[in-house]
Amino acid sequence: MGQVDQLRSGAADNRVANVFARQIGGEVETFWQVGRHVLARMHGKIEIAGRKLLLELFREKSFAADLGQGTVGDAVALGRQNDDFEHFLRKIVGCHQPISGFVRLCERQRAATRADTERFCLHPLCSVVTGVLVNRFNPYRNQRTDFMAPFLRILGIETSCDETAAAVVERDAEGRSNVLSDVVLSQLDEHSAYGGVVPEIAARAHVEALDDLIDEALKRANVSLSDVDAIAATSGPGLIGGLLVGLMTGKAIAKAAGKPLYAVNHLEGHALTARLTDGLSFPYLMLLVSGGHTQLILVRGIGEYERWGTTIDDALGEAFDKTAKLLGLPYPGGPAVERMAQCGNADRFNFPRPLVGEARLDFSFSGLKTAVRQAATEIAPLTDQDVADICASFQKAISRTMKDRIGRGLQRFKAEFPDLPEKPALVVAGGVAANQEIRSTLQALCDKNGFRFIAPPLHLCTDNAVMIAWAGLERMAKGVVPDDLDVQPRSRWPLDSKAGTVLGSGKRGAKA
Ligand code: KG4
Ligand code: ZN
Repeated sequence: MGQVDQLRSGAADNRVANVFARQIGGEVETFWQVGRHVLARMHGKIEIAGRKLLLELFREKSFAADLGQGTVGDAVALGRQNDDFEHFLRKIVGCHQPISGFVRLCERQRAATRADTERFCLHPLCSVVTGVLVNRFNPYRNQRTDFMAPFLRILGIETSCDETAAAVVERDAEGRSNVLSDVVLSQLDEHSAYGGVVPEIAARAHVEALDDLIDEALKRANVSLSDVDAIAATSGPGLIGGLLVGLMTGKAIAKAAGKPLYAVNHLEGHALTARLTDGLSFPYLMLLVSGGHTQLILVRGIGEYERWGTTIDDALGEAFDKTAKLLGLPYPGGPAVERMAQCGNADRFNFPRPLVGEARLDFSFSGLKTAVRQAATEIAPLTDQDVADICASFQKAISRTMKDRIGRGLQRFKAEFPDLPEKPALVVAGGVAANQEIRSTLQALCDKNGFRFIAPPLHLCTDNAVMIAWAGLERMAKGVVPDDLDVQPRSRWPLDSKAGTVLGSGKRGAKA
């Protein structure tokens, strides 16, 4: 079987793609197949000769941050299975990180892929996939939307990291939400052996699951594609391979079903969730604390965000994951550290509280991680009690840091908005929001400062497609023009485009 045939067979077993191809005929079939071919390359369905093309397209760094990219590229191109990845990843880990193993890659990879974005988007094959070919078919191009309908329903797609998700959500004329379906497939099992998200495994898993998930979301919602008013797909920030899968799928469905497409910023999804769950009015303050992001954001309105603080090094979830890894706790690290901390002595180690007392509202966690490493190395081998004490002391240092940083944020919010008709609100989102100690610290802080503390249910705090659908609905309801079908995925896409690089964050700027 030749290379092209192999690629086509990769596309052929895709049920949704085939249905669409039948529905709409030639043009989109071509578009879809070109996209499928690119994804199939990532999917390891080409011979070694295709490796060069693969690497040219996605660049070496997109494969696995600093985990021996050439080796990973070879393995992907050869179509090796997960077991083989494990084999050589273990080897690399053994050389470089004697006590800590290797850490969650999600954020690291996000940073690594940034450098690739421009080249990625300029690549001729890519511009065929996401641009030129489909651009002229977009009926919504340069038109103001007339979707100010009193009632809107949308299909949302999320694939930016290690969760594949689809959802159908409605919004009525008063802005009330109705979640018809919410389907999330976590890739935890695929990645846990590696101690972090491996981007190309994530992209493969999205390809394999997304079609079925979309079918399932529509089925559970008891609607068909003709019943939705638009498609919303995450187009950044995140891992470029996963974004490509979700956005391509969103484009194909939009084209096939003749619906407008909203390319949604994943962070905007997090930022607007509290309006879905609690009907919150603008403005409010949002703290996003996940494996890839740590940001304090002023949400002024739809599309109006001001970043007040960000991390200058690691994200908070990343700090939890790295700490867990070096203590030999399982991935993901946050829940494991929290569990151990429950039986530890939080006063045994006096870990640093980075940036506490400083007027700026940024965060820093890499010094804390280093202090934990030093303490662990000094008393190694560690008993279970040592590990518990380190976890409790680490969590205490984080809680104190958050209390100081967020406390200052609340003060600034009150100073800027002294006359709000309602009690001001702090919203929290991201996986770290599950941490009980951090939650109760934030709750107490809000009580003390006269703020409402809003923590949406955990499944809507972590990555999901409901928030992507909702962000699309909010934009539609506001009359925002849908995106062209040549919209590109963006591994880096700050919510606040005016926010510059923060001091201490390295030449590429803050990670999150
Ligand atoms: O938002 P999320 O589910 O996914 C992305 O980062 O995209 O966040 C995952 C992060 C991981 O770093 C995980 O260790 C952390 O949230 N996390 C926690 C807890 N549960 C999850 N961190 C601290 N305490 C927890 N209970
Ligand atoms: Zn997220």
